[in-house]
Amino acid sequence: MTKRTEDLRIVSRRIINEEYFVLDLKSGCDDLLIFPGQFVQVRVDNSMGTFLRRPISVYDVDSSKGIISLLIKVVGEGTRALSELGSGDNINIIYPLGNSFTFPGIGEKPLLVGGGVGVAPLYFLGKMIRERGGEPQYILGYRSENQIIDYDKFSEIGNVMITTEDGSKGYHGMVTQHPGFSKGGYNRIFCCGPDPMMKAVASLALAGNIPCEVSLENMMACGIGVCLCCVADTVNGNVCTCTDGPVFNTKDLKWQI
Ligand SMILES: Cc1cc2nc3c(=O)[nH]c(=O)nc-3n(C[C@H](O)[C@H](O)[C@H](O)COP(=O)(O)OP(=O)(O)OC[C@H]3O[C@@H](n4cnc5c(N)ncnc54)[C@H](O)[C@@H]3O)c2cc1C
Ligand code: FES
Repeated sequence: MTKRTEDLRIVSRRIINEEYFVLDLKSGCDDLLIFPGQFVQVRVDNSMGTFLRRPISVYDVDSSKGIISLLIKVVGEGTRALSELGSGDNINIIYPLGNSFTFPGIGEKPLLVGGGVGVAPLYFLGKMIRERGGEPQYILGYRSENQIIDYDKFSEIGNVMITTEDGSKGYHGMVTQHPGFSKGGYNRIFCCGPDPMMKAVASLALAGNIPCEVSLENMMACGIGVCLCCVADTVNGNVCTCTDGPVFNTKDLKWQI
């Protein structure tokens, strides 16, 4: 699908908790071809201090209805302004941007590891893996029980293991400490979350010689490869996360792990 700029109507706004909400956007395009890992650049019109568009992963797509869903965490002025929009408002986005995760091959057993708002692209990935006959397993990490995002929705497409840092739900600890991690039973890893989490997952994947892809959330401005503010250091030199990524095979990243 070629990149486009479009005003989309918000058809639903769903609040998950005081930090997270989901916007369902109705596209005028009746042939949405968006892949898991791709993102959109959102223009924030109702915030005087927010000049640059904000990059947000595609959380879900319903092609038959032309709906694109975004899961957003309020962290600053831009995301706060977006949280104040409601059904019937329009939102201008550039989409679809960036590359996507590589679908597992037949017989491969994918483990999808997410932390916080990093679970967003992994829902869409897991859904498409399931539609293609695969069986995704999730390990999803949160600070505490009240941070857990759409547990039932994730459970519809795969086995979901939860960790919380305070032990209020699931395994008490980090995603890499979950017994599901050490037990094995998977031969591909897909990961998105805070950098330290992705580095820890990448390190274990490397030790176990398991292919691992991560979706980086480097700071972005233009989102289309012009400003060079999102550079990632790789074995192929410095590349733009917004156009060469955001998804990278961890073997290609020059990470201190
Ligand atoms: C490819 C990509 C996909 C993303 N997907 C999602 C998503 O699905 N849902 C979602 O809620 N967020 C996502 N983000 C992060 C999101 O873009 C930022 O949280 C947002 O731009 C912050 O805007 P703001 O105006 O609210 O905050 P600002 O006022 O710009 O910043 C507030 C605070 O957040 C920090 N911050 C800003 N941007 C980032 C970032 N990219 N990574 C880490 N910290 C940041 C700032 O350093 C500052 O401390 C994604 C980022 C990228 C690059
Ligand atoms: S955000 Fe401008 S080059 Fe990537």
